[in-house]
Amino acid sequence: MRLQKYMAMCGVASRRHSEELITQGRVTVDGRTIREMGSQVEAGQDVRVDGVPIRLPDAWMTYVFYKPQAVVTTMQDPQGRPTVADYFRDLPGRFYPVGRLDYDTEGLLLVTNDGDLAQVVAHPRYVMEKTYLTVIRGILRPEDRRALERGIMLEDGMTAPAALKILERRRETTLLEITIHEGRNRQVRRMFDAVGYSVQYLLRNRLGPISLNGLQPGERRLITDAERNELLKARTSHC
Ligand code: URA
Repeated sequence: MRLQKYMAMCGVASRRHSEELITQGRVTVDGRTIREMGSQVEAGQDVRVDGVPIRLPDAWMTYVFYKPQAVVTTMQDPQGRPTVADYFRDLPGRFYPVGRLDYDTEGLLLVTNDGDLAQVVAHPRYVMEKTYLTVIRGILRPEDRRALERGIMLEDGMTAPAALKILERRRETTLLEITIHEGRNRQVRRMFDAVGYSVQYLLRNRLGPISLNGLQPGERRLITDAERNELLKARTSHC
C-alpha cells in the first residue's frame, strides 16, 4: 500500500497532509527517512512519524455524534475552547471528525478512526444530502425561497438546488428545514445571508441515510453496517 494511504488509514492525517509530512522528512520506514512520494509499505514494517510509531486501529469505528453548540470541530483549539476531542477521550487511538460544523451549529457529525471512510465522505465531490433545521430572522418571502431552491450565486460559485420546507412562521422568525447536497464552508448561513436573512439557529439533523434521532447534545452512537454501506455507496467516481 502507498505510504500516504497507510498513514491516512492509521489516522495520522489526510492523504494530502500525509504527503506533506513525507516531503518534510518526518516519516521513517524501518528507520529510513522516506521523502519520495509513492513509496510502498507492507504489514509488519515499522512506520514512524516524528519518531512516534503508527499502526492501524484494531477495529474501524465510526460514530454519529451530536455536536453541542459552542464546541469546535477540531481535535485541539489554540484558544482553549471545548473541542470534539473532549467527547472521545475515553476511546483508544485517534478519532477525528469528518467534515465540520460551525462553532455555533449543533447536530450530526461523523467522528471516525476509519481513514478510508473519512477520505470518501470528506471528498469535495462527494454528494450526500444534508438536512438542517434552521431559524432565520424575518419571514421568508416566496421569491427568496424560489431563489434558494433554484440555486444562488455565492462568492465560491453557484449552489446546487436546495429543498426547503417551512415548518412554522413566527412573528419575527421562520422555522424551516433546508436540504443541500454540498458541504461548503458556512454554506447554509451564507445562502440565507445572500437573500437577506440571518440564521439565528442551525442544527444538522440528517446526513444521507443517517439521522440524529434519539441522541442528546454530547451523546454518540456507532453507525450500523447498513449505514456505512449507504455512505460509501454515494461515493462518486472522483473519490
Ligand atoms: N452550513 C453552515 O452555515 N454552518 C454549518 O455548520 C453547516 C452548514
